[in-house]
Amino acid sequence: MKLLVTGGCGFIGSNFVLYMLETHPEVSLVNLDLLTYAGNLENLQDALPYGERHRFVRGDITDRKLVYDLISEKPDVVVNFAAETHVDRSIMDSFAFVNTNVLGTQVLLEACKEFGVERFVQISTDEVYGSLGPEGAFTESHPLAPNSPYAASKAAADLLCRSYHKTYGLDVLVTRCSNNYGPLQFPEKLMPLMITNALQDKELPVYGDGMNVRDWIHVTDHCRAVDLVLRKSRGGEIYNIGSSSEYPNLHVVRYILQRLSKPESLIRFVQDRPGHDRRYAMDASKLRRELGWEPVTTFEEGMNQTISWYIEHEMWWQRIKTGEYLTYYEKWYGNR
Ligand code: NAD
Ligand code: TYD
Repeated sequence: MKLLVTGGCGFIGSNFVLYMLETHPEVSLVNLDLLTYAGNLENLQDALPYGERHRFVRGDITDRKLVYDLISEKPDVVVNFAAETHVDRSIMDSFAFVNTNVLGTQVLLEACKEFGVERFVQISTDEVYGSLGPEGAFTESHPLAPNSPYAASKAAADLLCRSYHKTYGLDVLVTRCSNNYGPLQFPEKLMPLMITNALQDKELPVYGDGMNVRDWIHVTDHCRAVDLVLRKSRGGEIYNIGSSSEYPNLHVVRYILQRLSKPESLIRFVQDRPGHDRRYAMDASKLRRELGWEPVTTFEEGMNQTISWYIEHEMWWQRIKTGEYLTYYEKWYGNR
C-alpha cells in the first residue's frame, strides 16, 4: 500500500509514520512536510532503517504544482496531518491557519479528484464542536461550533471534505480526535510545556482557574485508530476518537510536578486565553462499534512514559526551546 502522508514531521504525523512503518511491512510512504517551526526531521531518525519505504519531501501543501506532481504518482491513500495547530498562535495571527488548514486541504482534495486517488483521510479535531458544559460528550452529529481561529480553520476544512464527498463522490474520511499527548510533542502544548518548564525549574503558566477540562489520549492510540479508519471504514464517514480520560488542567499540572518531585509553588495562574473552551469530551462509540477500536494506554501509563521520554530526550527539547521559541514565549506569556 502506498500512502502520501502530509505533516509527517510534526508530533502526531511522525508517530504515525513510525507506527505504519513498524506495523505494516507492505506500506511505503511519501512524507510531505514544510518543516515549519513545528516540523522536525529529527523526529524521524527511527525511520532511517526502513530505507526507501519512507521518502521525505520538503514542501507546502498549498503548492499546487508540487502536490499535483506527488499525487500524480497515485498513492492509494492520502492522509492529511499537515496543519498549523496551536490555538494560542492562531489567536495572535490566524493567516497561516486559514492558508494551510483550509486552502492546503482544498489543494489536496482537488489533486485527489484530478488523479482519482481512492481515499482521502482528513485528520481533524474535537475542537470543531466548540465547548461543552459539565455533562455529556460530543458525538459525530454534534453541530460544528468552533471558537478559536484554529478550530474554525479545521471546521472549514472538514466542510470542504464533506463537499468533495457529496459533490464529486471522493472517498473522504474525517477523524476528529481529542487532545493527544506522548513523545515528540512540540513544547508549546500543555503537557510538554509543563514537563519541560518543570524540568528547568521555570514557572508553569496555568490559564484562568485551571479547571478547563480536556479529554486526553495517548498518541499511539490515535495512530491505531487512524490506521483502522484508513483501511477498514466506508467513505464519507466521520469518526470521533477519544479515550474517555477527562481531567482538569490543574490536575494534569499537579500530576507532572508530583512525578518530577517539583514544588507546587512553580504553578503561576495567568490571564485566561480569550475564547477558552471550558470542556471537551468525546463519544468514540461509533469507532469502537464499527471498527473494533479500543484505547490501550491508560492515562497513568501514558503520562509516566511521556514524562520519562522528556527526561531522556533533553537535547531534543532544549534545541527547540531557543530562538523563535523564546520570542514566541515572551510575546505570549510576557505580559500575562
Ligand atoms: P504539529 O504542529 O506538531 O505538526 C504539524 C506538522 O505540519 C509540522 O510538521 C509542520 O511542519 C507541518 N506543516 C505545517 N504547515 C504545513 C504546510 N503548509 N505544508 C506542509 N506541511 C506543513 O501538529 P500535531 O499536533 O502533530 O497535529 C497533526 C494534526 O492532528 C493536525 O491536523 C491537527 O489539527 C490534528 N489534531 C491534533 C491534536 C493534538 O492534540 N495535537 C488533536 C486532534 C487533532
Ligand atoms: P493546548 O495544549 O494548547 O491544547 P488545546 O487548547 O488545543 O486543547 O491546551 C490544553 C489546555 O491547557 C487548554 O485548556 C489550555 C491550557 N493551557 C494552559 O493552562 N497553559 C498553557 O500554557 C497552555 C499552552 C495551555
